[in-house]
Amino acid sequence: MPTNLQVVLARRPGPGPLTSDCFALREAALAEPADGQIRVKIAYVSLDPAMRGWVNDTRSYMPPVGIGEVMRAYSAGHVEASRHPDFKEGDAVQSVLGVQQYAVVKGSGRVIKVDTAKAPLERWVGGLGMPGWTAYFGLLEVGQPKEGETVVVSAASGAVGSVVGQIAKIKGCRAVGIAGGPDKCRYVTDVLGFDACIDYKAGNIAARLAEACPNGIDVNFENVGGDILDQILPRMNTFGRVAICGLISGYNATEPMPGPSTFRAILTQRLTVRGLIVTDWAPRIREAVAQLGEWHAGAKLKIREDVRTGGLGAFVETLNLLYTGGNNGKLVLKV
Ligand SMILES: NC(=O)c1ccc[n+]([C@@H]2O[C@H](COP(=O)([O-])OP(=O)(O)OC[C@H]3O[C@@H](n4cnc5c(N)ncnc54)[C@H](OP(=O)(O)O)[C@@H]3O)[C@@H](O)[C@H]2O)c1
Repeated sequence: MPTNLQVVLARRPGPGPLTSDCFALREAALAEPADGQIRVKIAYVSLDPAMRGWVNDTRSYMPPVGIGEVMRAYSAGHVEASRHPDFKEGDAVQSVLGVQQYAVVKGSGRVIKVDTAKAPLERWVGGLGMPGWTAYFGLLEVGQPKEGETVVVSAASGAVGSVVGQIAKIKGCRAVGIAGGPDKCRYVTDVLGFDACIDYKAGNIAARLAEACPNGIDVNFENVGGDILDQILPRMNTFGRVAICGLISGYNATEPMPGPSTFRAILTQRLTVRGLIVTDWAPRIREAVAQLGEWHAGAKLKIREDVRTGGLGAFVETLNLLYTGGNNGKLVLKV
């Protein structure tokens, strides 16, 4: 009987980095699609920092993955069997399909057909997929950048950050990245075209920010939080915008993370600080797909993936690379 290898949540993790005993590999029977459904053979699973939060049973923006359930993930693959008129065998698609070899899902609008002639399949869960949509809506809708302004983005060489800085450049802004180590910083400036990149691991972030942002900071796209956010807030210009997209420095924290010690700048500079979740723009995802695709085709948007080949059994160890900066670009697991 054909089977489907799945990564399921075996137990709730405590605080700290995820360990492999929180998950189990399960061989389930391969289901046939019912009327209106499709079966997708998954080729790439997107590994996202948010996965750390999705397994915690705490109040969040979506319910936690249940014990015994397939781990939630954006994935991309090909339709293998279809009982939906809009999808045919061989279509390349991406959606929330889980960490597994096959997914049987409703052929709804949440399943997006992608064009692999325009970009490789794995890119459609990276810069052209959810991380790209996050950068697009987060920067343009929350950050509201205007020509000539300075945009600072942390985790700048990664999936979301790399797209944020490039959109900032497209919009005529000064783009300043923050990333870990000289290689990532060189990539951010020399390949992605940011105006400057600060290596936070080299220390003295405040002085480096002052050098890189001589006119202050108008938009901060925050992916990291902690000390980096602390150093940014006092350099924000009056009526600046802070888009809180992620706080990855705290995802594996064993104690509650303190708020910014420079919180006072929000008052004195009358900052707008707004959290964002990409699904807030769910009805407009196709707009982001089209615009990002156009910029990518016009070579205005460079994207890289870090594809790991360890397979589903390497899910946890590969995911954990994100929290130590072990990835170079969008982290993807090949199935
Ligand atoms: N709100 C939303 O809807 C949404 C959607 C997607 C992603 N996000 C958030 O966006 C952020 C970036 O996600 P991504 O998928 O683009 O990941 P990514 O940037 O490709 O990878 C994560 C990067 O975070 C950096 N990092 C990890 N721990 C750090 C620490 N303690 N201090 C400083 N930097 C650290 C590392 O880069 P360095 O080597 O440069 O340190 C690492 O490579 C995450 O916070 C994520 O949760 C939010």
